[in-house]
Amino acid sequence: MEDVRRVVKEFLNLPMEEKMKRPMKFEPYHPTGYGRTFDISEDTILDWVDALINYISPPALKDPEYWPDKPAAYRETIEAYGAEVIKLEKTMLGILSKSLGLDFSHLEEAFGGDEAQVVLRVNHYPRCQQPDLVMGLSPHSDGSAITVLLHDEVEGLQVKKDGLWWTVKPIPGALIVNMGDMMQLVSNGRFTSMEHRAVVRSDTERISIVVFYAPTVSAFLGPIAPKGTQQNTAIYKPIKYGDYLATYMNKELQGKDRINSLLI
Ligand code: OGA
Ligand code: NI
Repeated sequence: MEDVRRVVKEFLNLPMEEKMKRPMKFEPYHPTGYGRTFDISEDTILDWVDALINYISPPALKDPEYWPDKPAAYRETIEAYGAEVIKLEKTMLGILSKSLGLDFSHLEEAFGGDEAQVVLRVNHYPRCQQPDLVMGLSPHSDGSAITVLLHDEVEGLQVKKDGLWWTVKPIPGALIVNMGDMMQLVSNGRFTSMEHRAVVRSDTERISIVVFYAPTVSAFLGPIAPKGTQQNTAIYKPIKYGDYLATYMNKELQGKDRINSLLI
């Protein structure tokens, strides 16, 4: 984890021309590279963040050309970290599967097995002289199944609970795990995705390193009944993950609107 933070910081400290060698590419569903992720119009207030996105898995989506080659240790370090985070995310998925009355591997398979999309997103929130006027990341829930976030010692991530925003206190050596919208969907609302946002600061920059574990775009997902039972009443409509992503990519993030739009 220390190595990951170091190589990421080294990348972000490179001159802008170097970082812009791989400007964000807007592949349908799969943006990758460095820059901004959302299409923007003139009157949008932008989030105060630059991102570096690299696909860790499946191999077909990796797009190695979009992985930084500086610092030299970046690729190897992120590959090694990615492999460990995938193990952790699969273990958590298995445990969540069991707690929904499903086989350990049920959710992993439902999300596409080895075709699941595992995506690294580095968020760089530069210092901001008027932090009250912008957001680092606007309120949203992750579209993924599960998200693992590694951050530095700088506070900035907030979660919404009981209508209030709470700052997550960084704990050295700890990872933050967020439930994503797909868990809310497949569990028929027994799990809820966490609404969160990131605020920025005037005294220091902030960096977070996020690994999303998300279904493959062709996975067709809806509430799953526990083994040997019938679904009582599904409260969500099923959707193909690719279609869900399409609603995600071209709009500003808005709280939990997207998952709520699937409510029957
Ligand atoms: C995200 C996210 C929070 C943070 O990348 O989806 O919520 O603290 N990041 O950077
Ligand atoms: Ni998020």
